[in-house]
Amino acid sequence: MSFNIQKIREDFPILSRKVNGYPLVYLDNAATSQKPQQVIDSIVDYYSNYNANIHRGVHTLSQEATDAYESARQKIKTHFNAKEVYEIIFTAGTTHGINLVANGFSDILKKDDEILVSAMEHHSNIVPWQMLCDRTGADLKVIPMNEEGTLIMEEYAKLLSERTKLVFVNHISNALGTINPIEEIIQKAHEVGAAVLIDGAQSCSHIKPDFQKLDVDFYVTSAHKMCGPTGVGILFMKEEWGNKLPPYQGGGEMIAEVTFEKTTYAGLPHKFEAGTPNICGGIAFGAAIDYLNAIGFEAIEQHENELLEYATEKLLEIDGLKIYGTGHKTSVVSFNIEGIHPYDIGTIVDKLGIAVRTGHHCAQPIMDFYKIPGTVRASFAFYNTMEEVDALVNAVKKAKYMLS
Ligand code: ALA
Repeated sequence: MSFNIQKIREDFPILSRKVNGYPLVYLDNAATSQKPQQVIDSIVDYYSNYNANIHRGVHTLSQEATDAYESARQKIKTHFNAKEVYEIIFTAGTTHGINLVANGFSDILKKDDEILVSAMEHHSNIVPWQMLCDRTGADLKVIPMNEEGTLIMEEYAKLLSERTKLVFVNHISNALGTINPIEEIIQKAHEVGAAVLIDGAQSCSHIKPDFQKLDVDFYVTSAHKMCGPTGVGILFMKEEWGNKLPPYQGGGEMIAEVTFEKTTYAGLPHKFEAGTPNICGGIAFGAAIDYLNAIGFEAIEQHENELLEYATEKLLEIDGLKIYGTGHKTSVVSFNIEGIHPYDIGTIVDKLGIAVRTGHHCAQPIMDFYKIPGTVRASFAFYNTMEEVDALVNAVKKAKYMLS
């Protein structure tokens, strides 16, 4: 598929609806992406034609559902270039994946071990590690960032020591759009023997990480940010970690043998997949990956960079408007206008059909760093247009006029 924006937009039924009498301008893609017809059809097809539980029956429907689910896992493995298909564990989403790993380290971490997080994490990549520290007596240290919203790598290097056991950083900040230098972060952590978990919730819709090249230990992401459904994601876990970590939840599917005296666990990935999974979600995740690859990540990146450049230039023409996150970044523009609360701007632009997110974006430490209550965040996807950027800029100007 060549990059034909009008044709791409026709794939997304929701993009032709109106909101408050205006054409929808959907700029909240960092919260969740919209879904193309191809993904919606995969969901309808599953429930209409082969709905059944997987890995459990010899009957035809069960086999068809199992094949479709496992072939989605294979697609995901190929997409991210994991070494083995069983290193891809289906989860309910990024938060679930992080909690699974944090739980796994409960018996591995010791008092006075150190774990590092970055200053620009989403709450889901802070709170599970705080809970882990409470359970183990390990210390949580923070890699600081500078005014432009970039991690200070010299400080990171200073924090690393033989006490460091784990490092957690997002690939791309949801609140600022900053792309973090994860290659260097992983390499430096490995030099002191620490494992690294990358939160890829915001990255995988924009770029295509290569798990083997990155040599990452754990990488988590969610389907719903990548044109797939909510309630499903993946945890990539290197085989050695998969063998080392204990199961997260007990139940059906994750066992080899159960007696009242003793239970033995299934191998990877099933050891971490207790219970009936989100079968349809996994299959639709595979359809979303096919859809994105048919467009191509180079084309996606190029178009989104053009949107980012244009939106940045036009928004900065508005007097008193400040953008947070000005370093190496992806198509997220987080901003405030002096003297106006972000919530008020969000409410007025919504009346004009424009969807942005306002608030702390589940990243309160970033807002504390800038000493602000929150921002207005416009986050662009490959199906957004330059005309939509114009609509945003005009709406923000109107909001400023009404609120000043
Ligand atoms: N983490 C999502 C966001 O940034 C929900 O909006």
